[in-house]
Formats: sequence, C-alpha cells, structure tokens
Amino acid sequence: MTQAVDEIKIGGLGASRKRVEDSRFIRGKGNYTDDIVLPGMLHMEILRSPLAHARIKSIDASKAWDIPGVHLVLTGEMMATRNLAWMPTLSYDTQAVLATDKVRFQGQEVACVIADDPYIAKDACEAIVVDYEPLPAIVNPVDAVAPDAPVIRDDKENQPDNVIYNWEVGDADGTERAFAQADVISKLQLHYPRSHPSPIECCGSIADFNRATSKLTVYMTTQAPHIIRAAVAMVAELPEHMIRIISPDIGGGFGNKVPVYPGYVCSILASILLERPVKWIEDKTGNLISTGFARDIYLNGEMALRQDGKILGVRMHCDADHGAFFSDAQPSKFKIGLLHSAFATYDIPAAHLTARGTYSNKAPGGVAYRCSFRVTEAMFFQERMIQAAADDLGMDQAAFRRMNFVRDDDFPHRTAFGFLTDSGQYGKCLDVGLQAIGYEEFRREQAEARARGRLLGLGISTMTEPLGAGNSREYDILGIKMFDSAELKVHMTGKAILRTGARGQGQGHETTWAQIVAHELGIPADDVVVEEGDTDTAPFGMGTYASRSTPVAGAAVAMVARKIRAKARKLAAHLLEVSEEDVEWELGRFYVRSAPSRGVTIQECAVAAYANMPDGMEPGLENTAYYDPPNLTWPFAVYIVTVEVDPVTGVWDVLKTVAVDDCGVRINPMIVEGQIMGGLTEAYAMSSMQFITFDAEGNCVGSNYMDYLLPTAWETPGFELHSEVVTPCPHHPIGAKGIGECAAVGGPAAFVNAVMDALSGTGVRNIDMPLLPDRVWEALTHRRDVYGAPPVRSDD
Ligand code: CDP
Repeated sequence: MTQAVDEIKIGGLGASRKRVEDSRFIRGKGNYTDDIVLPGMLHMEILRSPLAHARIKSIDASKAWDIPGVHLVLTGEMMATRNLAWMPTLSYDTQAVLATDKVRFQGQEVACVIADDPYIAKDACEAIVVDYEPLPAIVNPVDAVAPDAPVIRDDKENQPDNVIYNWEVGDADGTERAFAQADVISKLQLHYPRSHPSPIECCGSIADFNRATSKLTVYMTTQAPHIIRAAVAMVAELPEHMIRIISPDIGGGFGNKVPVYPGYVCSILASILLERPVKWIEDKTGNLISTGFARDIYLNGEMALRQDGKILGVRMHCDADHGAFFSDAQPSKFKIGLLHSAFATYDIPAAHLTARGTYSNKAPGGVAYRCSFRVTEAMFFQERMIQAAADDLGMDQAAFRRMNFVRDDDFPHRTAFGFLTDSGQYGKCLDVGLQAIGYEEFRREQAEARARGRLLGLGISTMTEPLGAGNSREYDILGIKMFDSAELKVHMTGKAILRTGARGQGQGHETTWAQIVAHELGIPADDVVVEEGDTDTAPFGMGTYASRSTPVAGAAVAMVARKIRAKARKLAAHLLEVSEEDVEWELGRFYVRSAPSRGVTIQECAVAAYANMPDGMEPGLENTAYYDPPNLTWPFAVYIVTVEVDPVTGVWDVLKTVAVDDCGVRINPMIVEGQIMGGLTEAYAMSSMQFITFDAEGNCVGSNYMDYLLPTAWETPGFELHSEVVTPCPHHPIGAKGIGECAAVGGPAAFVNAVMDALSGTGVRNIDMPLLPDRVWEALTHRRDVYGAPPVRSDD
C-alpha cells in the first residue's frame, strides 16, 4: 500500500534543507572560471587608462610585441578594423571596447596583450606607450550640465552635451494641486553615493574558438548567459547556434556580472584570431575601478503634508551620474530603472518624478547592485523623506508610517507612480518589529539618556520592493521580453534533472529549486539534480538579478512540475485501470478516489512512462515551461535599528537590529535568513563605511580594499530576524515572493534614520552616506547637514 509522503522529510517547501552546493564549496571543489584550464590556453591582460579624460595621440605597442611569449596585442585601432572598437550596451548606448579617440574614465580599457602566461602579458602591457593629451574631467552631474562643460561623448552624433536622458513619470498637475493644499511641505536633499557590488570573485572569461567546428565556447562569470549569447552574436556577428556560453560556479554577482565588459569581447576576438583558448581574469583593482558601479544619484525631494499626518503628494527630482557610458542592465522602458517604485509602501494620492541622467568621466555606473533596478535608491529616498516628514510634523515615526500605509484590504493597490501592488500586511509587520525592538521602552530610555548627554537613536525603514521582472508586456531588455523557463526530465527510476534559465551566484538555487519539485511531485529533493548556466543545455532565460529567480524561474519550476504531474496522472490511471477522472493526488502518490488504499507512487508512474505506457502515449516523462508572470511580486519588510552615537568622536554603535520580512511562502527558511543577513550586512556597510569617490581630475578613490571597505564578521552587528508574517503572493504558483535583495534595499535607511534620530534636536537634518565618524562629528560640532560624497583628502 502506498502512502502520501511527508513534505518536510523529503525536503519540500518549508524545509531548512542544507545547501547542496556547499558540499563542494566548503571542500574547495567549486569550479570557477579561473579553475578551468584548457589545452593550449593563453592569457590576456588589459592595459587601463591612468587618466579620466584625455585624447589619445598615439599608441606604440612595438616593444610589447617584441617580448618573448607575447602572441597578440589588441588596440582600439585594430578592433576598429573589425568593427569591434565599440559595442552596444544593454541600455541602447554604445561603449568603447578598447579606446580609439579618447579615454573617458580612469581605468578604461586601452589595449590587451595575449601571452603564454599572465605575468608576461602584464609586463607587455607596461611596455605599451600611450601618448595622452589630458582634458578637463567631469565628476558630478552639476558640472556635467554647466554651459562650458566639455562634451564627454563627442564620438556620438547628435550629442551636443552630457545629458543622456530627461525622463518623467507620475501626475505633474495632480501633484501641483496636492502641494497647493498642503499644511506643511517637507523638503530633503540626499545623495546615494557610488558603491560597488565587489563580489569576491572578479569578472573573467575563457574564450575557446574551434576553427574546425566553427563553434565558440565561452566560460564566463555571467549572471545572464543567454543574454550574453545574444550580445556576442550581435557584437561578434557569429551565428547564435555556434555560440555556447557556460557560466560555471560564480563567486558572487550582486549585479556586477550582468553587463557585457570589454574583457569578454577582447578574449573572444583573441581566441578567434589565434585559434587558441584565451583566458582573462580581472584583478581586484580592475574590477573595482572599471566594472558595474551602482547608485550615484542625487535627490531633491518634497512632500506635501496635512497637519494630521496624511501625505497628500510627493515630488522628486533625481540626477543620476551614469559615468562615461550608459550601460545599465535594466528594462528598456524605464530610463532610471524602477526608481518610481518609491512610495509604493504608502497610499499617496499624487506623485511626480523627474529624472535626468548625465555622462561623467567615471566608470559606467547604475548597475542594479543587489537591487531591482534602482529600487535601493527609491526605498532609501522614500524612508529618509518619511523620517524627515514625521519630524517636520512633530509626529511619532511609527504612527506616521502606519497612518499612511496601504492597508491590508486596499489590495490590489495602484501606486501613485502606476505600479500594482497586490498583497501585504504592512501594519502587522510593523507591530512585530516594534514589539521586538521594545519601542516604547526604548523611547523612554532615549529621553533619559539624552538628559544625561548620551545620544541614543532608533531608525525605522518600512519598504516594499517590485521583484520578478517581467511581465513581458512591460519589461524587456534590448527588446527581449522578460520571462523565464524550466525544463524537467524525470528518469525511469523517478530521479530527475532540472534545468532553468536562471543562473545563481551563491543564492542556493540547486537546493531550493529541487524543493519546489519535491513540493509539486513528492520526489525527494535529494533525487533532483539542478543544473543552470549552460546555454547549450538550459532553456532560454533572462538570468538571475533583481531577485527575479524565485518569482519567475521558480514559478516556471512549479509549472513544469505540474505538467509532469498531469502526464503522470494519465500513467497512474493506466496502472490503476481506472479513468483519469477517478484518480486523486496527494503528495507523492495517485490513488483511486473510491478506494484510497489503491495507489501508485510518482516513481511507479515514472517507470511506466518508459516501460508500460498506455497505447498511443508518447513515451518519456519530461517537459519545459516558460513562465511569463502576470505581475511583479511585492515582498514587504520592516527593519528597525537602535544606535548610540558618541558625541565626542562621532563614532556610532549599533545596539540592536530587528528585521521582519514577509516574502510570502518561504521555500527554504534557512536560505531566506541567510539572504536577509547578507543584505543587512551590505546595508550596514553602505550606511557606515563604503564609498567610491573621485577627485577633481577624476582619479578614483576606492579601487582597493584599503579605501573601499567590506565589513567582516568582526565589524558586523548581530541581527534578530522575524518570520511570523506570511502573505502569499496571489499570482505566484507557490505563493512565494522574491527576498534576495530586500534587506540590502531597505536596510540602509534604517541605519541612517537611527543615527539621524540620535541627532534629533541638534539642528542636523541629514548626513549623506556613508556616516563615517568624522562626518557625524562635523555635523554635530557645526550643527549643520553634511551633503554629498566624502571629499577626497590629500596628504599635503
Ligand atoms: O534571484 P535571486 O536568486 O537572487 O533571489 P530570490 O529569488 O529572492 O532567491 C534567493 C534565494 O532565496 C533562492 O535560493 C530562493 O529560492 C530562496 N527563496 C526562498 O527560499 N523563499 C522565497 N520566498 C524566496 C526566495
């Protein structure tokens, strides 16, 4: 007699199954791009520009060519003869592969050397003589639009200035009317500084062109292998079926590994020219100075408020500094990503956002660093403005939020900027958070401490985030609609292989996707092997970024398992000798409705698919599903932080951090907690210590880990996580919402709000991130705001 299986025992939904990928990672048996060694492989190094803006008068590579072991030197001029000096970006701009006319940021790729080993290649790079004529550099959006500003992109026709776009969304007139009715107008200027995803593994590729088969195989660190295949087909003009992109283990991506970088293109061309495999592994400085920066947005925000606390309208103007090339990987329709998800948490009648993007002499920026296309900036601006508005009204921070939240029974809710949010229990999450932090008691303690000269503060951040682009109606990248896919093959013994169009970089997909199959089919998760990242075997997908995997690829996994179950039902009816309508399903088995003890397991159905199928049925048990979500998923979170600020030094310590995350159904609670802790660590880093800044000449400060700080376990405070609020996503097949980014998105405002709360009453309204002790000290001592990126200090 067969029996239903126990979902937790087989590692289904809700099981904190240990990560299967860790078995190889903790043994040092991961297979990263740099671990791959191919016969006859050569090595590539990149020569980068020391200057931020300069005309190239000449490049003399003759000495490099003379070095024994050098096989090829690529320059922009050579690339131009093959129409490869420039490449298209994912935001419909162009980007130099190797500079020809000018260099436009410090660290820009100028030449490449391919040699027997990386050391020879590096030495040969140093032997290349480039004659530069320096030009004035622009390092911020204000100077970018000054009347006498040099035009950075003079390579482009119809580009008379440094403006990339002017974009707007929302209701300008309605917002105007709201402001006319306001009792109080709260204003805030903010800067979200440049930061870098800085994954432990840098970018890299091994291109292997085989002249005999005309096939190009590229092993590379990409979060989106299929998009890269399309881009390579476009840039290198190779037929798509002759390109195979393999993304092996990836040591963290965080958005840094979505764009196409010049190093990839050069290694591919070099392999085609030399007919040998060519490996390029970026070093840490190269990664920090030239790839995928994030943020760097300035905000002028205003809120129209009624005296009783009701928000009547919001007005935002954002200036985004994109660096030398507009290369954001983001949905085509939205020039400043999903920044207009700001204020989606609140029920606001009218809102208007204007945005201007400009070029500067900085590395291309704006990648979605652990963020659904600029949602990090959106939620940071939102929560800082909310805190300032509550202060301006003299209202309690929690009460002000609660009064303006979208209420549980208001869903589905159309936000002032036009998104449709569909579920959540915002008030309940806030209650749990306030209870956990001991809100009332802390406020009492804070007042008593203040009387004794001690500065305690409490910061709240309540956020929702649009995760899971697309639907394909609204979301595309370079015209390719955003959806995702899964392919499931159940072998005759009931074991299975699952492939998806996503590509994890440490998130645990190999563990959690198998749990979805277990939930849908009753096949133990340990019997399902998950494979991602090979374009020759995985179904087409848009990759993993913007926490879209669970909302889209994860949904495709559930849907393909359901297709398998539908066929297995027919097989069960055949085995049980009843009609399909008489067959019922419980986890892991089909049974006869009228005789529940008569049943067959899913594994027995799998054997039958190969050994005993009914007449006329196609053999085998495998299928593919493409999933185009009806909407984004909208997780919600409350982060509350308490701090103590030392008024003498400006040093601040975190006393307690509470996180209440509602990401719908949790597939693997342990993995979800890991995602939240990682996100909070990054949030703490961004708010307290991280920035990349530039001096007036465009020299980058932050291109090494002495300047760009990553918190270790020693610096990172402890976090208290709460999981009791679960609002399933109404349209996701298993009710899950994305979680990967929430804490990195919502966390920074909680830390900053806590410090600002500690400083309340001192006349200081804002300190821009990072809240380094000297900036806090400066604000406290001079009783004034501190705006913008930290200044670059010189030793003289
Ligand atoms: O796209 P990405 O994988 O970065 O983000 P995600 O879809 O939010 O998922 C991050 C990790 O958390 C994956 O291993 C998910 O399967 C897991 N997860 C979960 O267990 N339950 C959820 N409701 C959401 C994500």
